Amino acid sequence: MVVLGIESSCDETAAAVVAGDRRILSDVIFAQIAEHRPYGGVVPEIAARAHLDHLDETIAAAMDQAGMAFADLDGIAVTGGPGLIGGVIVGVMMAKAIALAHGKALICVNHLEGHALTARLTDNAAFPYLLLLVSGGHCQLLVVEGVGRYRRLGATIDDAAGEAFDKAAKLMGLGFPGGPAVAAAAATALHPVQDLPRPMKGRPDCNFSFSGLKTALRQRVDSLRADGRFDDAARADLAAGFQQAVVDCLIDRCARALTLARAEYPALSALVIAGGVAANQHLREALQSLAARHNVALLAPPGRLCTDNAAMIAWAGIERLALGERSGFDFAPRPRWPLDEQAPRLAGAGVKA
Ligand code: KG4
Ligand code: ZN
Repeated sequence: MVVLGIESSCDETAAAVVAGDRRILSDVIFAQIAEHRPYGGVVPEIAARAHLDHLDETIAAAMDQAGMAFADLDGIAVTGGPGLIGGVIVGVMMAKAIALAHGKALICVNHLEGHALTARLTDNAAFPYLLLLVSGGHCQLLVVEGVGRYRRLGATIDDAAGEAFDKAAKLMGLGFPGGPAVAAAAATALHPVQDLPRPMKGRPDCNFSFSGLKTALRQRVDSLRADGRFDDAARADLAAGFQQAVVDCLIDRCARALTLARAEYPALSALVIAGGVAANQHLREALQSLAARHNVALLAPPGRLCTDNAAMIAWAGIERLALGERSGFDFAPRPRWPLDEQAPRLAGAGVKA
């Protein structure tokens, strides 16, 4: 089976061709960073127009690198949501057109399912596994029971972890996108700030919160600025302290989720990470030792497959097609699309409906 994947739900215009035997035949990403940088964040209207400008050439490059013609494909998988709706519409319309013109199956994929199943593309992960999904728009802990079967243990009550990195970078004048900028500044720190808060740490549920941490950071930046002491060294020390605080929070929440998930799923195969923040080296190292302490395997896909890409969309399409599923041409792009729409909550996890 060979599937073309298309991703356009945020600021990456991406296309990839993936085979059912887990070979990534091509994986092309056009990142719109330059378009959004002057605004310090992703501007939805600009993103939608940039997808429109670049999607056809991105798909052509993916097909070319894979050495494939549309006739060789078994299906077209596309992100059908959740995400910035203008971009999602561009991708879904393109996928429908290709599928219709070439008589191929259309599979509209939940973007989060793409992240959730990436570890099956890269490591053939066995169900069930615990997933930490940490991106710019999402921050949640889920048990992945099977394709389309997700149980949420916890989620953020305010900012997503990636969003927190992005806002922190903006506060410190470190540029966009924030995560890599904060990590780079942190790497040069001589005296990392130790006493930033760790919201939610020790709580019995599995939820996250980052707004208090962001406020504490803002207060530090403001007072350093007022004293004329906010130089590169101070900025690096704060960036390192902030990164450490976020990592501590994520590790604490993961530890809680591992305990709860293990109780209900004795066959839990691994702790899996996905989403842009999973590219963070510091987090990966901390998760490695957490997994070792809990005697569970850690599956961390390579950074390029953690941030938004189309190979994960193609793979989710392959998983769905293999189950005999496909989407109708009346599929309507969805700005919101929770992964666990029908799932019952896990007892004790304390997730609000
Ligand atoms: O999954 P993704 O590419 O897009 C979304 O679906 O949101 O994640 C992007 C997010 C951004 O917030 C970015 O700052 C963050 O992931 N990110 C990082 C790193 N690389 C990307 N955060 C921390 N450390 C990194 N190295
Ligand atoms: Zn994403």
